[in-house]
Amino acid sequence: MDSIRVFAPATVANVVCGYDVLGFALDNPGDEVTMRITNNPGIRITKITGDNGKLSMDPARNTVGVSVQHFLQAIEKTHLGIEIELHKQMPIGSGLGSSSASTVAGLFAINQLLNSNLTLKELLPFAMKGEEIACGTGHADNVAPALYGGFVLIRSYDPLDVISLPFPPELHCAVVFPEVDVPTRDARQLIRSKVLLKDAVTQWGNIAGLVSGLFLNDTDLIGRSMKDIIIEPARAMLIPDFYKLREVAMQNGAIGFGISGSGPSVFSFTHNKPQAVQISKALQNHLSSINVFSKSYTSSINESGPKILD
Ligand code: HSE
Repeated sequence: MDSIRVFAPATVANVVCGYDVLGFALDNPGDEVTMRITNNPGIRITKITGDNGKLSMDPARNTVGVSVQHFLQAIEKTHLGIEIELHKQMPIGSGLGSSSASTVAGLFAINQLLNSNLTLKELLPFAMKGEEIACGTGHADNVAPALYGGFVLIRSYDPLDVISLPFPPELHCAVVFPEVDVPTRDARQLIRSKVLLKDAVTQWGNIAGLVSGLFLNDTDLIGRSMKDIIIEPARAMLIPDFYKLREVAMQNGAIGFGISGSGPSVFSFTHNKPQAVQISKALQNHLSSINVFSKSYTSSINESGPKILD
């Protein structure tokens, strides 16, 4: 095999209360990477589509290029020639793990192409290098679910300890992206670095409640636990009419509602697909009424992570 095309999924990080430690993958949208081995040593990004010219073709400044370079260094194969095409199929800066999807697709592709057989756990630190380029910190709550599929908990960063969590099979997700720009790097700077003990108690109760709800298939408990009193109050102002959007989602039967990653996308868990469609429509109608363009996606939770297309 000297060429491969791989899809990797979008992700919802934080899942409201689990800042930097919880995330899950979506069936759609996602990004595609095509990769080829050539005789010309070095990494080259030959094409990027769907980015409106926003991403760098310089491999040292592109998350896919950087993570693939780290991978090649680790397996001592930097003499190889690698050509990368990146096809963005989701909005950049949307809070849906756009850079993570591309990075994970690239790492999965190189691992397959070179028959390197690195495990997902071994690939993850390279993907986190890509996040460092994208937003300044190597958080794993987008790259880990994009790589593993499903729902993941990053129990610890040092040492890295990632746990795949079960989830109720009927769980669906409605994601709405209000088209305003919220770079993750900026959204992270809004967060206080100190937390009151009483707030920490509330927050870790909710994280434990959410994880318990996932294990117990208890959607009421999942919904009750989707509360964030630390990060969300600082970031809500980045999202047009955030609290009204929550009201609309909950009135339409959402299990829970919150910011996807660092925003501006918002997401709702629902019991089924029709409910996800209904909530997306209601949220988009509200955004239109305040003159904000939006895109929406409805999806079940992606269980498999990256996929070889051909
Ligand atoms: N946990 C990260 C944050 C996710 O909230 O900044 C970014 O998508």
